[in-house]
Amino acid sequence: MQIATTLAEARALFDALPRPLGFVPTMGALHAGHVQLLRSAQRGSASVAVSVFVNPLQFGPSEDYAKYPRDLEADRRTLAQAGVDALFAPDTAAMYPPGFTTSVDVGPVGATFEGVVRPHHFRGVATVVAKLLHVVRPDVLYLGQKDAQQTCVLRKMIADLEFPVAVEIVPTIRESDGLAMSSRNAYLSAEQRAEAPSLYRALVAMREALARGASKAEANDIARATLSRLAMPDYFEVVDAESFEPIERPALPAFVIGAAHFGATRLIDNLYVAPDRRETA
Ligand code: PAJ
Repeated sequence: MQIATTLAEARALFDALPRPLGFVPTMGALHAGHVQLLRSAQRGSASVAVSVFVNPLQFGPSEDYAKYPRDLEADRRTLAQAGVDALFAPDTAAMYPPGFTTSVDVGPVGATFEGVVRPHHFRGVATVVAKLLHVVRPDVLYLGQKDAQQTCVLRKMIADLEFPVAVEIVPTIRESDGLAMSSRNAYLSAEQRAEAPSLYRALVAMREALARGASKAEANDIARATLSRLAMPDYFEVVDAESFEPIERPALPAFVIGAAHFGATRLIDNLYVAPDRRETA
């Protein structure tokens, strides 16, 4: 696997790769969920490039930027073993040299839910992915459904700004007990880890209640009752899969979304509800 750390190296490296070129942007701390994302990219593209960059722009002042897990050597081994063709691992100065001031703001789709709790988060995500797309110039961008609002934000940016790239969304990879894989799961205590799958179960219960004809308020109560008492619910909602705007009934396709605090760790999860694709409970 070839590695580029500067933008110039990256451009030369990615230009030489067989097309179609698939691209999987990450912040490292790679887990089995990321590896499945790579597998999907490999199935759909002739070559696959991955970026590992912990993007300071998408962390708030009180968030975990400093303590976000970083182990480039372990990530490099994981990527090489998975058969990834090229890795782009820039440092912060390469991505944001002194004087860098531009940002990409996608508007309302980034202002709700995660955007309320993390006001500049999606602007940071859109800005870094815009820059990465210009450097890597892939044919297909692969994103995880785990971060459903992020997929809506980035699809909006790509559509509005005419980025010449297709987008593929890969279903969420879960632990055997239903917990969505996430780098942040490592912050959970043993007790919190044992209770964390209740977020997934709450979403399943909410989706089932809606399917039975319950109102959104009733379904929301059922979700909150299913969530572990160890957790503090943040939100449970049903949103349009395109606009991420709340809807009363899951007109399809939709996401049933939820967020909850397990101690200091905030977890998010979602289920996609479509006429032709229903995740199993
Ligand atoms: P990161 O959290 O490292 O995630 C990288 C990609 O892996 C994202 O598309 C994310 O949705 C996907 N992913 C994470 N957990 C997953 C799981 N359990 N199943 C399937 N896919 C999963 O998301 C980011 O980084 C950043 O915001 C980034 C897009 C790289 C911009 O900095």
